[in-house]
Formats: sequence, structure tokens, C-alpha cells
Amino acid sequence: MMNDIEKILITEEELKEGVARLGKQIAEEYADKNPVFIGILKGVVVYFADMIRATPIPCEIDFMVVSAYGKGTSFGTLLMKKDVSVDIRGRHVVILEDILDTGRTLSHVIDHLKAKEPASLKICTLLNKPTRREVDIEADYIGFTIPNEFVVGYGLDYAERYRNLPFVGVLKPEIYS
Ligand code: PRP
Repeated sequence: MMNDIEKILITEEELKEGVARLGKQIAEEYADKNPVFIGILKGVVVYFADMIRATPIPCEIDFMVVSAYGKGTSFGTLLMKKDVSVDIRGRHVVILEDILDTGRTLSHVIDHLKAKEPASLKICTLLNKPTRREVDIEADYIGFTIPNEFVVGYGLDYAERYRNLPFVGVLKPEIYS
């Protein structure tokens, strides 16, 4: 697997520090709010597990499974395979996402969750890739802003591989082109 990686963009240590910083901020702001953390699977899995342990306050967790019908296709082609199970009406919700890229996934998720009338709804993304944005959406909490490179690891995949790398790395172009 390591042979497919061009370079490490964010090291394990840097990820740990970034997650600790986000967790501390959210713990302070949500200390008395019993928030619901909603993770968008599958890419969020590693970040989610680390984030909730970095946020030592009363909370609930839940997940959504959303997938794109092929990236680069027309807007609106997103399929929700699993909705939230927790009743979020009147609750303070923080969406945890591994990467905010074009913004299509989160814009659908936001519309969907807003209709359930939460008390508040915020986005906490590990990675932000603003140069690729197609939809007017920004995160409230950002771990790392990254350049337009093909990143994998720490939950992020290419063709379902590399999610188990402990760092965020840039994939060699010959692997995906
Ligand atoms: C990835 C990632 C985000 C989304 C971001 O998910 O986990 O959910 O893309 O991209 P966007 O801002 O352009 O919508 P993907 O659909 O690849 O599924 P996965 O989480 O199962 O890997």
C-alpha cells in the first residue's frame, strides 16, 4: 500500500493534534447541550472514533450512509442508504465529515437534517478542499485546509482501498489515472 503513496500530507501526529484541537473547542461550546454527533459513513469512520474520544462531554452518536452515483455527474444524484435513527428535533446536532470537497454530499445532508427541525446544526470536517467547491457551503469547524490533491488514508479511500492508512497521504497519479 505504501508504494502507492506519493507523499504524506498530514502525519499521524498532526492528525492527533488537529483532532484534539477540534474536540476541545466542541467540548467547550457544547458542554451543556448534550449534542448529537452524526457521522457520514464510510469515510468518517476513523476520524469519528477519534473525535468522540477527544470530546469528553455528554453526547449521543448516530450515522448516515450517503453515497454519490459517480462523482462529476449532475447535481442531485445522491442516494441516502441509511437515515439517522435518533430523533434530532430540538437537539443540537454536529455533523462529522471526513472531507468537504465539492460540497454536494453535505448540502444534501444539511437539507435533509434541517427538515427534522434540530435546535442547531453545524458541520465539523476534518479536511476542507475549498478549491473544488461547487456548492455554496462552508464548515463551522475545520481540521485542515488542503490543496487540490487526491488524498487517501485515515478513512478516505480510492476504490475502497487505503482507508486503514494511519495518515492522510497523496496517491500517486498513476494509481487513479
Ligand atoms: C466522500 C467523503 C464525503 C464526500 C465529500 O464520500 O467521505 O462524504 O465524498 O465529497 P463532496 O463534498 O464532493 O460531496 P464518498 O461518497 O466517496 O463515500 P465514502 O464516505 O463511503 O468513501
